[in-house]
Amino acid sequence: MRMVDLILAKRSGHTHTKAEIDFIIKGVTDASIPDYQLSAWLMAVCWQGMNADETAWLTDAMCHSGSVLDLSAIGPLVADKHSTGGVGDKTTLVFVPLLAAAGIPMAKLSGRGLGHTGGTIDKLDAIPGFKSDLTIDHFIKQVKDIGMAIGGQTSELAPADGKIYAMRDVTGTVESIPLIAASVVSKKIAAGANLIILDVKCGRGAFMETEEKATELAKTMVAVGHRLKRPVTAVVTDMEQPLGLAVGHTLEVIEAIETLKGDGPADLQELCMELGSLALISAGKCKDKEAAHKILRDLMESGKALESFRTLIKAQGGDPAIIENYKLMPTAKHKFEFVVPGQGTKWVEHLDGRKVAEACKLMGAGRTKKGEPINLAVGVVLRNKVGAKVEGGTAIADIYADSQQDYEAARAKLEEAFTFSEKAVKMPSIIKASVS
Ligand code: URA
Repeated sequence: MRMVDLILAKRSGHTHTKAEIDFIIKGVTDASIPDYQLSAWLMAVCWQGMNADETAWLTDAMCHSGSVLDLSAIGPLVADKHSTGGVGDKTTLVFVPLLAAAGIPMAKLSGRGLGHTGGTIDKLDAIPGFKSDLTIDHFIKQVKDIGMAIGGQTSELAPADGKIYAMRDVTGTVESIPLIAASVVSKKIAAGANLIILDVKCGRGAFMETEEKATELAKTMVAVGHRLKRPVTAVVTDMEQPLGLAVGHTLEVIEAIETLKGDGPADLQELCMELGSLALISAGKCKDKEAAHKILRDLMESGKALESFRTLIKAQGGDPAIIENYKLMPTAKHKFEFVVPGQGTKWVEHLDGRKVAEACKLMGAGRTKKGEPINLAVGVVLRNKVGAKVEGGTAIADIYADSQQDYEAARAKLEEAFTFSEKAVKMPSIIKASVS
């Protein structure tokens, strides 16, 4: 088999066989397929798509490109959740310690930023000393010992996804249903959890811009999970505007800590409650959402959820003092106010999550090349979002920048992100649909 023929076949819209897909993934894993051929093939898949068989074969091949963990020694139930990527999505930083505090073992494998979206592992880098490059043995032992671990992509688990993910990030080949489905589900299966909850984002801040496309992605992932005998549940959630108020690595860790204290922004809080209750109900810890919400709220209000995050930070070598002193994390040199243009009362009509992400990227918060270092300190904290009543000339966001020049670039992008209306605007709901 020759890779060039497979690129040509996919470019012309042909369907791959299982053997062809196995050949490609083996070649990615052992590096016999060069980056330029891999990127050409990824672009062909983006354009031509894959059918259900190809997507399942791709997922299976990527999953088996490395070890597949057996977590049965931890207990009958180990949970994982994964988001398809968004702006300001710090849900994992809340969800993992919260659910571990509720007695559900959490074995979470996360990624770095992809395209315009942020990555949990990059966010955790803002915590001095925090190590996410755990060995498999460490990862399993930590889940056994403290009920949770958040590990980055290792060369042992789904290594083909690690390589393809990094390549897609810099070749404009992220927005593809089969590629996203295979990437997410292969990692989740390889990481060994048997309760898998997927948060499928939709809107301008997500890779799937419409609810229809996001639902199609959710259905594809659920179907692939079932074919590979690992049931997954998916929730489609809003990512038109950023999730919560903070976008930027340190800023998002701070917002996650506030949320664990029960003081988070309403949409982030609601999303954590929704995903958390799905996990609690599936795990048989309670019967309905009301009971689940009560468990989760109690954990936040009693301080147990925050203590659980402290335990996680300590176990992975991080400095838990950041919980009391946010200045121990990378901090931007300047804070500038971004004000509502014009005068008089108005309502935020639209807030484009992708543009907010681009504003942060212009200040160095995202990569343009594989493996590039990023600025963890900079970002944007919104004061108001869609549906809020605001006054012209008052601040609607704060921009955290390291220089005047970066601030100006981010401000220009933020100007494009907001639109205002003279009439009242309804607040959008965060939960759109569920698929199981
Ligand atoms: N998250 C992943 O892990 N992979 C993707 O392709 C997109 C989001």
